[in-house]
Amino acid sequence: MKVHINGIDLAYSDQGQGAPLVLIHAFPLNRAMWEPQVQALATHHRIITVDLRGHGESDAPMWHYTLEQFADDVKALLDHLTISQATFVGLSMGGYTLFALYRKYPERVKALVLADTRAQADTEEGKAGRFAMAQTAYTKGTKAIADLMLPKLLSQASLEKRPDLVDTLRGIIMRNQISGIVGDLMAMAERPDSTSLLKDMTCPTLVVVGQDDIATPPSEAKFMAEKIPHSRLEIIPNAGHAGVPPENWTIEYVRFSST
Ligand code: MLT
Repeated sequence: MKVHINGIDLAYSDQGQGAPLVLIHAFPLNRAMWEPQVQALATHHRIITVDLRGHGESDAPMWHYTLEQFADDVKALLDHLTISQATFVGLSMGGYTLFALYRKYPERVKALVLADTRAQADTEEGKAGRFAMAQTAYTKGTKAIADLMLPKLLSQASLEKRPDLVDTLRGIIMRNQISGIVGDLMAMAERPDSTSLLKDMTCPTLVVVGQDDIATPPSEAKFMAEKIPHSRLEIIPNAGHAGVPPENWTIEYVRFSST
């Protein structure tokens, strides 16, 4: 489905019934990354997934992107769907978007799941890395971005033993446009530091991270969980940044986030 808001067509899916759960994807992915979670949770929740501007089936204007704009788009989508409050899940850049959303619209947030993300702004070295990746996107295209990002998104074990997962994520990355990829990189480079916000995040919050995440390692998750007043930390064994938990691993966050 699409809705025209804030000057663009924004693509989203609205599935299931129950307390609303809004899933915000990572860089450089789109809402298709949440397919397994939608399958698992749509029997108990109304699940909204969205292609942030610049991703998937949403418009990707050649213009300045910011995380605050992503948050404004999500809020406008919730207005369109007449959802006054929801539980939000954000993976990595999706987490950065949730910091922007909480800063501006805290009354819309019932509970949060901050997955494999960090509160700090980019370092100068990090910003230089964003600039270099943007140049690669312009000169070598989306495939080069997929080659750079897959080893950051998946653990070494998943890269070696889960070709299905590698292919799925590669396909998702390849469906994004260069304007959106570059827009994300600039938006992330310019994002404010959210460390001082953490103590004011008073909603129930689950901080979750893969044990083998090299992009936003468990130390970042511990840092956030220590500062967010009503938080719980879960470290998923043998999982990377956007990987899958082991078969027998369970977590009670569904019940936690819908109360
Ligand atoms: C992501 O997964 O969204 C990115 O790795 C975030 C980042 O590059 O900071």
